[in-house]
Amino acid sequence: MSTNHVEVHEANGVSFRQAPEHFFKSQPSKSYIVDEAQYRAWYDQSINDPETFYGALAKEYLHWDKPFTKVRSGDLTNGDISWFLQGELNACYNCVDRHAFANPDKIALISEPDEESEAYSITFQQLLEKVCKVAGVLQSWGVKKGDTVAVYLPMTPEAVIAMLAIARIGAVHSVVFAGFSAGSLKDRVVDAGCKVVITCDEAKRGGKTINTKKIVDEGLNGVESVSKILVYKRTGNPDVKMTPGRDHYWDEVCANQRSYVPCVPTNAEDPLFLLYTSGSTGQPKGVVHTVGGYLLNAALSTRFVFDLHPEDVFFTAGDVGWITGHTYALYGPLSLGTASIIFESTPAYPDYGRYWRIINRWKATHFYVAPTAMRLIKKVGEAEIAKYDISSLRVLGSVGEPIQPDLWEWYNEKVGNNNCCIVDTYWQTESGAHLITPLAGAFPTKPGSASLPFFGIAPAIIDPATGKELEGNDVAGVLAVKSTWPSVARTVYNDHSRYMDTYLKPFAGYYFTGDNAARDNDGYYWIRGRADDVVNVSGHRLSTNEIETVLDEHPGVTECACIGINDDLTGQAVVAFISLKEGACDINNESEYAAFKKSLVMEVRGVIGPFASPKAIIAVSDLPKTRSGKIMRRVLRKIASNEMEQIGDLSTMANPECVPKIIAAVDSQF
Ligand code: PRX
Repeated sequence: MSTNHVEVHEANGVSFRQAPEHFFKSQPSKSYIVDEAQYRAWYDQSINDPETFYGALAKEYLHWDKPFTKVRSGDLTNGDISWFLQGELNACYNCVDRHAFANPDKIALISEPDEESEAYSITFQQLLEKVCKVAGVLQSWGVKKGDTVAVYLPMTPEAVIAMLAIARIGAVHSVVFAGFSAGSLKDRVVDAGCKVVITCDEAKRGGKTINTKKIVDEGLNGVESVSKILVYKRTGNPDVKMTPGRDHYWDEVCANQRSYVPCVPTNAEDPLFLLYTSGSTGQPKGVVHTVGGYLLNAALSTRFVFDLHPEDVFFTAGDVGWITGHTYALYGPLSLGTASIIFESTPAYPDYGRYWRIINRWKATHFYVAPTAMRLIKKVGEAEIAKYDISSLRVLGSVGEPIQPDLWEWYNEKVGNNNCCIVDTYWQTESGAHLITPLAGAFPTKPGSASLPFFGIAPAIIDPATGKELEGNDVAGVLAVKSTWPSVARTVYNDHSRYMDTYLKPFAGYYFTGDNAARDNDGYYWIRGRADDVVNVSGHRLSTNEIETVLDEHPGVTECACIGINDDLTGQAVVAFISLKEGACDINNESEYAAFKKSLVMEVRGVIGPFASPKAIIAVSDLPKTRSGKIMRRVLRKIASNEMEQIGDLSTMANPECVPKIIAAVDSQF
């Protein structure tokens, strides 16, 4: 890592891209941010006079039951950030009721279930009724303002309905990605003290049936706090086990509820949801987002980044179990009264034409996806794209991992037909909404760069060695933010000191993102991956530390170290190095070694979830260590990435004799 000003090369080889003509011609009306001058003027005001800037936008974009008396207070040093103080509003009212009253028949949600012949849409009026019924059920079960409710559902309209119903009664949703194991679900339900869990009987994905309710039963075994489970009948399999008194089918209990249940007003600073995310150490953190600031930034970023108009159709391919689904499948589009496509399946089911048929069928104008899905399609499904008319598209978004310039070009050409704006949006669970991103059509972009900060975000590149901010352009370091913004996470659930330690204390006065980044000579930002032990596999954020904890528990493992390596398909992949207990397995016996490794993978799948499985497990006699006994993951990373020339200084290593053996073990594996 450079500690000085450096020439950031990305800037030199890459030319600016202007928004294509077609983008402007196909807009329903003129852009919300018309040009770079407007962006700069708004940006400057958002940083220099946030009170005026956000005070006006909050009134324009949200309905307040009681006006706020102060736009913001608190700072990054004290970690006491608040926005829209004393203001009261309800997120569900803002996403559903006001649109149902103004445009009852307008489409709110489009459901694309696993089987595409079963696709359907629901209007704002229908959504309101469905949400109210679930809200009524929850209230009848004693769920009150401030209570946490877990949602463990696949990407179906019911997930969105459940979240909105929880928000409607002032409760707090904690969505757990339905790919998580029973144990991971349990940890999250227990940490958040959930009284109710909302799930389904079985899920469908890629033609396969997943026994969701069984996983929930396993996870909740012995969890006393959960008194009720609401079960949406996704498949209706009569053999799914229901515990009398605790488990209730969605359709049966909703049938007894009124189709209107009033919203419970919430304070702008009341929690709207928790979302667990992985960091470098320890258990996942329940990141807390609040009603007012989060909702405002969800609306503003959806409006300005995507230039989203009310008539548009927004297709976020990400799951509601992650922050992308929260902000850009639900709260962003619906707060703006725009239709959102909820997609349950995979890009490969029943074939690689699925995304394109969805876009064609619903005339989607916006498509928002992780580069990993595009890499897969580029590799195996590219021929399908040209078979469909997807000319309704105006904006293509990328999220969750860096999009390499060549993939950017491919996305632009093959999916966008050179007619769309591409927005490479950089942000995170904790930021609630975009941090650094193009605004479609407003200013030129550069393939591979997330470009410029969103309103209210004052980025800082910090030299990690000195902790000092690097001023000016052509600098590289770690990325922090020196302003507060409405949707920054306020705390970690029940653990504010962890919030302070993770985000605000590493560099006093700054919010630390955990990412490496560079600012080039035009002031454009380039995200260069995590600076901590977090890996990004297919857009899923994983802690190597968490995977190590699982592997360390295995009876055959003495110790282990997991690292991330680059992967052509998944962006990054996890490689686990393990040292074996005496007699645990004969690694020269191929089938025994394979079975042993499988047992380790099964352990990770069972404890965390299938998406956390290491790509490779490599047994070594000894892990590289410093003299004080710390595992040198840097050395493993370089060996696994075949970058021996960059292995660096080994003089602090206690056991350099292990290096050639590890190299041989890696060579035999890849
Ligand atoms: O490392 C950055 C990467 O994903 C991390 C956040 O992950 P998560 O909280 O799961 O949220 C994912 C959806 C926003 C970041 O710290 N990341 C996200 N977007 C980008 C990115 N890296 C590079 N470019 C991006 N556009």
